[in-house]
Amino acid sequence: MLNHDQLLGFAREYGTPLFVYDADMVRERYRDLYRFIPYPKLEIHYALKANYQIGILEALRDEGCGIDAVSPAEVELALELGFNKESIIYTANNMTDAEFEKVCATGVTINLGSLSRLGKMAKSHPGSRVCLRFNPDVCDGDSEKTMTGGDLTKFGILLEAVEEVKRIVREGNLHVVGLHSHTGSGLQKPESVYQSMKNLMAIATRENFPELEFMDFGGGFKVPYKPDEKRIDYVEMGAEIARLFAEQGKRYGKELKLLFEPGKYLVAECGYLLTEVNTVKYNRTRVIAGCDSGFPQLIRPVLYGAYHQIFNLSNPNGPEKCYDVCGNICETGDRFAEQRMLPEIREYDILAIANAGAYCYSMGGVYNLRTMPGEIVVSRGKVTHFRPRETDEALVDGLLKATKKA
Ligand code: LLP
Repeated sequence: MLNHDQLLGFAREYGTPLFVYDADMVRERYRDLYRFIPYPKLEIHYALKANYQIGILEALRDEGCGIDAVSPAEVELALELGFNKESIIYTANNMTDAEFEKVCATGVTINLGSLSRLGKMAKSHPGSRVCLRFNPDVCDGDSEKTMTGGDLTKFGILLEAVEEVKRIVREGNLHVVGLHSHTGSGLQKPESVYQSMKNLMAIATRENFPELEFMDFGGGFKVPYKPDEKRIDYVEMGAEIARLFAEQGKRYGKELKLLFEPGKYLVAECGYLLTEVNTVKYNRTRVIAGCDSGFPQLIRPVLYGAYHQIFNLSNPNGPEKCYDVCGNICETGDRFAEQRMLPEIREYDILAIANAGAYCYSMGGVYNLRTMPGEIVVSRGKVTHFRPRETDEALVDGLLKATKKA
């Protein structure tokens, strides 16, 4: 685990804002899952959308991890990096015909979450292998925006549509080799995972789907974000998952592969965003610490009201004061933390925003024409990957060149 002095050293050496990722921790989290879930045919597929830093992907590839991809470019990146195509599942939603064809041509397994797309596949690619995504009918997640089960979501085929599914599958002579569901991100209760598994397993009979090879219950394993938040007992949860799935194997009459596709669990805690405070100001009731990053670079607090721990690396033992930690974007909502007690912040102090490994850089953008931070990956004590921050000049040049006058 990276210590605060190391982080401070990276800020000095590489400049801020900077994302720093600890590849050793990613590997450790990956291996943890195999320890926690004692099921012999377990396969972990990384949800690449959480963080597509090449160093992280290479670390997971070298561990033997598979990939959950959600766009043709994610599939292409994974293939390019040498993930083998048998270990990639494509789970896009609302895909175009062109995207569908492009991914079909790569030979990776396609996971379909609508009757409409299933019908199109039956017509255009009869005889193919396919995985089907169902809505598990369980609502859980750390934000309403990231719950993917139940009535208010666009994802998956309804469980009650199974007869319709079978009809389409028969007509297209499709081979349903996998069933999939994803309940949400940051699942608060282990029971949600069990219930989703039970709901999907209830339709996973020999009679409905005689050619199953695997079942994939998505991602969503939660990690703590707040300092006082309890870590879920994954040893207990893993044992229950393995027990439930072993029973499924008995009912089905075959030991199926068990897949999960975590993003946050593998990478959230491995990352920090380092940012320098350039302005401290007093606004009657609030003290504002203004930094050289902003919400387009780490959007979770603004988008989901997410809490990210912040450390003042430069003054860890300073007296605690209350701050709004703000970015450099022209919006009042541009805050990493509101009314947060932190060791006294002085101008030029370096702050580290924790749990910045998942859905931070990957959800970033260049609003206000501020380029995304640089990124480094640290592995076994060394910086193994460095992606420098794009320069303002390159950004502007790119814009000017990309736009053609019609
Ligand atoms: N599988 C599917 C089909 C998914 O849609 C997702 C996440 C995952 C797996 C991985 O979920 P995880 O293990 O990372 O919770 N941007 C949000 C999270 C969005 C998750 C989208 N889908 C956030 O920052 O909280």
